[in-house]
Amino acid sequence: MKKVGIIGLGECLPEKILSNADLEKMVETSDEWITTRTGIKQRRIASENEAVSDLAIKAAREALKDAGLSAADLDLIIVATITGDMPMPSTASIVQNALSAKKAAAFDISAACAGFVYGLSIGYQFIVNGSYKNVLIIGAEKLSAFTDWKDRNTCVLFGDGAGACILSEVKSGGIASIYLGCDGSNLNLLNLPAGGSRMPASEETVRNRMHYIKMQGNELFKIAVRTMTEAAQVALEQAGITFKDVDLIVPHQANSRIIMAVAKRLGISEDKIYLNIEKYGNMSSASTITGLVEAVKEGRVKKGDTVLLDCFGGGLVWGACVINL
Ligand code: UT7
Repeated sequence: MKKVGIIGLGECLPEKILSNADLEKMVETSDEWITTRTGIKQRRIASENEAVSDLAIKAAREALKDAGLSAADLDLIIVATITGDMPMPSTASIVQNALSAKKAAAFDISAACAGFVYGLSIGYQFIVNGSYKNVLIIGAEKLSAFTDWKDRNTCVLFGDGAGACILSEVKSGGIASIYLGCDGSNLNLLNLPAGGSRMPASEETVRNRMHYIKMQGNELFKIAVRTMTEAAQVALEQAGITFKDVDLIVPHQANSRIIMAVAKRLGISEDKIYLNIEKYGNMSSASTITGLVEAVKEGRVKKGDTVLLDCFGGGLVWGACVINL
């Protein structure tokens, strides 16, 4: 069996910072509430003329450089996003064109906050079965474009950003296991109701603010803790290792209280958990991959270390992956 691993990493975080103090001026909230309930202090917001593909392209270029590859070496581009530039064409097509990755096939996947791990699993299969050599996987979101800035329940949570990796055959280490799951019966807990074929855009949908993300956070919280705990356990079991063998856990960053509750259930010490929610908020599919990129940049993990990615989001969907860097 081929070994498949990450050979390059990149990220792009927009320059503009929106702090909790800024939000205090926009809705009835407080730095104290946001910090204690979520762990978020600030988030990045893309500019008006920046689409999600712009963030994705910058992250992709950094990952290519890190891998020492050119865009011509890419066989496939997968963009995990729920905030694509437009419904058609795919954001991946826009990225492919911008990079001049002429021989690369390209498509988007929609798996919300688990999108990056879903993307990893697809790229992994293509390399293992010999179809492709180098696959670019991007998790990118411009959630600010779909955030209701009048709804304090959601607008304090999200941020924009992109992370990317190049998957290739490696001599040692690589992906040891990937576990994916879905429970479509709870799709009402986190969704964006209008703009699709179920509820096409109309004056009424705009008037009723249906083009924004809706969340029943409290209910979601409990399911997130339970599901992320189970997903981590399954991925480790499939990899044939235990938490003692893991150097760092990079979880989806929806809420630091969710992450710490998962850590407690699993009996893991806090120093084994990577958090960037304080700086970036919840960036859906971009959270886990930018977490991994920054953990490497900060020296929290190095080549040869074992990392567990663990995500959960709207769908409901989840995914966990054990990878040796
Ligand atoms: O990324 C995909 C997965 N996402 C998740 O898993 C998110 C999971 N959920 C959460 O992270 C949390 O549930 C939230 C952060 C969304 C909310 O925290 P909570 O502790 O569950 O608060 P709550 O929704 O139970 O609301 C408690 C109170 C309410 O007031 P009342 O009804 O008790 O008077 C809310 O209206 O807090 C109020 N509230 C706020 N107050 C100040 C809600 N949002 C705010 C706010 N500022 N921004």
